[in-house]
Amino acid sequence: MGIDALLSDPGYNLQSIHHLGWRDMRRLIGPFAPTDPVWGVLHRLRGRRVVRRKEVVETLFVLERLAPELARARTVCEVGAGHGMVGLFAAVLFPALSRVDQLDRRRPDSWDRIRELLAPAHLRVKTAVRYRELRLDRVDGIAPADLVVGVHLCGGLTDTVAELARRQGAAFAVVPCCESRALLAGEDGLPPRKGHGDPEPAVNAARVARWRAWGYDVEERALPARVTDRGRVFVASPAPARREFEPPLAPRAGL
Ligand SMILES: C[S@@+](CC[C@H](N)C(=O)[O-])C[C@H]1O[C@@H](n2cnc3c(N)ncnc32)[C@H](O)[C@@H]1O
Repeated sequence: MGIDALLSDPGYNLQSIHHLGWRDMRRLIGPFAPTDPVWGVLHRLRGRRVVRRKEVVETLFVLERLAPELARARTVCEVGAGHGMVGLFAAVLFPALSRVDQLDRRRPDSWDRIRELLAPAHLRVKTAVRYRELRLDRVDGIAPADLVVGVHLCGGLTDTVAELARRQGAAFAVVPCCESRALLAGEDGLPPRKGHGDPEPAVNAARVARWRAWGYDVEERALPARVTDRGRVFVASPAPARREFEPPLAPRAGL
C-alpha cells in the first residue's frame, strides 16, 4: 500500500480529531494514485463529517501492519470494533476476505454512515461485513475466524479477547490501551497496591509471556508515534506444532 507516504508531510497533525475534510484530503492523498484502493477509500469519506482524521490514518496503518495476516485470512473477527473502520476498510482493501464479523457492546450510528459512504464503490462492505452487539466479557466463545483483531482494547478487554481467540485456536492481533496496575497480579495473586510510573510495559510484558506459554508465537509491530502514542501492535499466532497437531479448544457456546 505504500502507506508510509501518509507521513510525508512533516507539519501535518496526524493525531487531529477533526473530521476528515477536503483540505485533509489534499494533504493525505498526494502520494497516492487514483487507482490505489487507499485513494478510493479516502475519497469516499472526504468532507462528510463522519470520520476523524486520526482514526482514518491510524486504521490504514493498522491494516498495513497486519497486511501479511490479512492477505492470508479468509475470515476476520474485529472485536471492540467501535466505528468499525478496521473491519470495513479491511473488507475493501483485502478482497479475498469472505467474511468480516464486527463485535461490540454497542453499534454506533457512525458505523452505518461509514458503510453507506463506502458501499456505492465497495458493495463488499454490505455483503461481507456484519456487526453484532454483544458483551465480550459475557460470552464463552466467538464465531470462528482466521484472525481476531482488536484495536485500542481498553484495560482487561485485551485479555478477554486473547482468551476468546485462544479457545478457538485462532491467531489474534491486538493494540492494547488503558493499562492499569490492577492488571498486574502480584505473588499473592492480588494486584499490587503501590507502584510508580506507567504500568504499561509490565502489563504487556506479562501478557506476551502468558501468550507464549499458551504456545503462541508473538511478534510486536509498531504504529508510527506521529499517529498514536498507544501504538504497540501484538500479533499472536498459534505455533506451527499446535496448528498442525492440536485441535483448537472448542468454545463452550458459540455465536
Ligand atoms: C477505545 S474503543 C476502540 C474502538 C475501535 N476499536 C477504535 O480503535 O476506534 C473500545 C471499544 O470496545 C468496546 N467495548 C468495551 N468493553 C466491551 C465489552 N465488554 N464487550 C464488547 N465491547 C466492549 C467499546 O464499546 C468501544 O467501542
